[in-house]
Amino acid sequence: MPAQVNSVTIPRPDDWHLHFRDGQVMESVVRYTARQFARAIVMPNLSPPVTTAAAADSYRQRILAAVPKGEQFTPLMTAYLTDNSDAEDLVSGHADGIFTAAKLYPAGATTGSADGVTDIGKIYPLLEAMQKAGMPLCIHGEVTDDDVDIFDREAVFIERTMSKLVSDFPALKIIFEHITTDDAVQFVLGGPETLAATVTPQHLHINRNAMLVGGIRPHAYCLPVAKREKHRLALRKAATSGSPKFFLGTDSAPHERGAKESSCGCAGIFGAPFALESYITVFDEEDALENFEGFAARHGPAFYGLPVNAGSITLKRGKAVVPGAIQAAGSEIVPFHAGETLGWELA
Ligand code: NCD
Ligand code: ZN
Repeated sequence: MPAQVNSVTIPRPDDWHLHFRDGQVMESVVRYTARQFARAIVMPNLSPPVTTAAAADSYRQRILAAVPKGEQFTPLMTAYLTDNSDAEDLVSGHADGIFTAAKLYPAGATTGSADGVTDIGKIYPLLEAMQKAGMPLCIHGEVTDDDVDIFDREAVFIERTMSKLVSDFPALKIIFEHITTDDAVQFVLGGPETLAATVTPQHLHINRNAMLVGGIRPHAYCLPVAKREKHRLALRKAATSGSPKFFLGTDSAPHERGAKESSCGCAGIFGAPFALESYITVFDEEDALENFEGFAARHGPAFYGLPVNAGSITLKRGKAVVPGAIQAAGSEIVPFHAGETLGWELA
């Protein structure tokens, strides 16, 4: 039996998908990410959404102003694509280092997606421009058709949209975000090198029972919604396999308690505060601690064509006690794993 590994040191990791919001909420939550991550891909689904380079640049300044003194953290900004996005602004924003990527929300798929793309055919010229410019595309991969069951929306998106997109744009880097199904795992594994996926901590830890057994648990509800156990197992296998096609993206999505505990609760799980502790627990349970570094710190930068971060962080076996709620903007946000104790902590 090899000796038990009690601590893991990796280059400073990145979060390749999260929501900071804006204003006071953003000012209260940025610190949880900056404590652990060197960079993060920041989602643009504010209201109004971040559609222009000018708006992204000013949002970036507001985030930087909220980073606690002494922390080194770089927000990587994304452009919210609409039917009317300006290709020139997009591509020049990318060339100027304001936009790292663009985000495709099918209109109506999730929180803050009302201004998203109504028909992917409408943005083919934009995608051509992005492909030419080497600008990556992040995708919320769910169809919104009324006739499709919510648990099938990701798998149907692969059939109806994603397959064609990947073959129509062979040089476009595509990130299939927050995947939740074995179908998506297989699609990404079978796809070209230009296709990768992010995986959230919640989809590695919970299946749909966590949301629905013994009462409705709104804090386990996010989009794409958690699926059956076989899908969770497929995601765990993929994320911990060492394949460079899978990397860390928390999809941390803070909503104040009242907006979740409601007759029509918002989708989104606030995973940022204990993200690394949560992910490494999965790698430990899967006996794959040696692959944690790739998933958290190397595969993402390699895919985006960015350097691995300087500096390192260490996680060690211990006790990370997750509080029942976190104060933000005069209100409370319930974090993922609220009330649990995780077996790893940041040293
Ligand atoms: C996100 C949010 O709240 O902005 N919610 C979620 O459930 N993940 C939107 C998204 O990424 O789908
Ligand atoms: Zn998201």
